[in-house]
Amino acid sequence: MPGVLTQTTPFKTITVNELHPTFGAEVSGVDFENTTKEQFDEILAAMAMYGFCVFRSTPLTDATHVSFSRRFGSLDTIARFVTPGRALRYAHLELFDASNLDSSNAILPADSPRAHASRGNRLFHTDSSFNPRRASFSLLRAVELPPPETGGNTDFADSRAAWDRLPADVQAELLRDDWTGAFSMAHSRKLGSPDFFADMDPVEAAPMARHKIVQVHEASGRLGLYVGAHLHHLEGEGMSVERSKALVGFLNAWCQRKEFVATVKWEWEGDLVIWDNRAVLHRAGEWSGDGVFRRDMRRTTVHDDGERAWGGNAVGMEMPTINAWIARKAMVGEVKVA
Ligand code: OGA
Ligand code: MN
Repeated sequence: MPGVLTQTTPFKTITVNELHPTFGAEVSGVDFENTTKEQFDEILAAMAMYGFCVFRSTPLTDATHVSFSRRFGSLDTIARFVTPGRALRYAHLELFDASNLDSSNAILPADSPRAHASRGNRLFHTDSSFNPRRASFSLLRAVELPPPETGGNTDFADSRAAWDRLPADVQAELLRDDWTGAFSMAHSRKLGSPDFFADMDPVEAAPMARHKIVQVHEASGRLGLYVGAHLHHLEGEGMSVERSKALVGFLNAWCQRKEFVATVKWEWEGDLVIWDNRAVLHRAGEWSGDGVFRRDMRRTTVHDDGERAWGGNAVGMEMPTINAWIARKAMVGEVKVA
């Protein structure tokens, strides 16, 4: 039951309180300034089990957020999104900017290109599924929060439970056909703000990345759906445009059924949520304060180093961006999409 706090797992150095019947936990007792290997291994075990974990009021700074994240693996950076001459709000290229602030730290106007681009984050997605090398973990930290009554929560959907509860005939079909998904950041941006991106064609905006849509989550051995708003279409023998549209629509809607969704309310500056993109989907929840209140969220993104990290893509292939398209369209030199 959400909200019922029970110690249910045999961890020694952390306390784990479950947040939802199938996934999600609030974890306390972590020493972020000096995390022992034993404690870090317990965090990894909790991540494997719960898919996302919430850590309240951590003392993390930009620098320690990055150094703590490195313990999970090598980190993606925003270097490819940074256009020459662009000012950054902070010094660390490992921190993706999920805020509603511009480079001079002012609230982004709701009609700015970046605000339009970030609307895609309000749809359930998996970070970096549009990259040839996908992401394992994302670590999102609250730096400045809007008034709680305006919303601004982050929602999670359990893609392993969603798989488990699919009708058996659908499961059998998906296992037999083993479809490949083509993932595109441009596609989710367009879904998030259709008018602004009306004349952007995701097929032309950037190369798409290929990953299987049903996969084993290595850390837990469970199967899960790897779908979300970046999933543009499916490929495989016998797949048609119509079938792809229907199946993508069905699977994305299925994962968002109420029974698979949990909401994290950000409470304190320093709150950190870690999620495993191979086990959960997430989205920025509705909020009424965009363009009015500051919401400063910073995220590190860990490169997957598992067997399926590069999916059907050439290992070492360059990561795509759609910045050039947005910059052309808006005639601005600064665009950042998360
Ligand atoms: C992200 C993201 C959601 C939020 O940073 O990847 O989707 O609530 N953020 O800011
Ligand atoms: Mn995201």
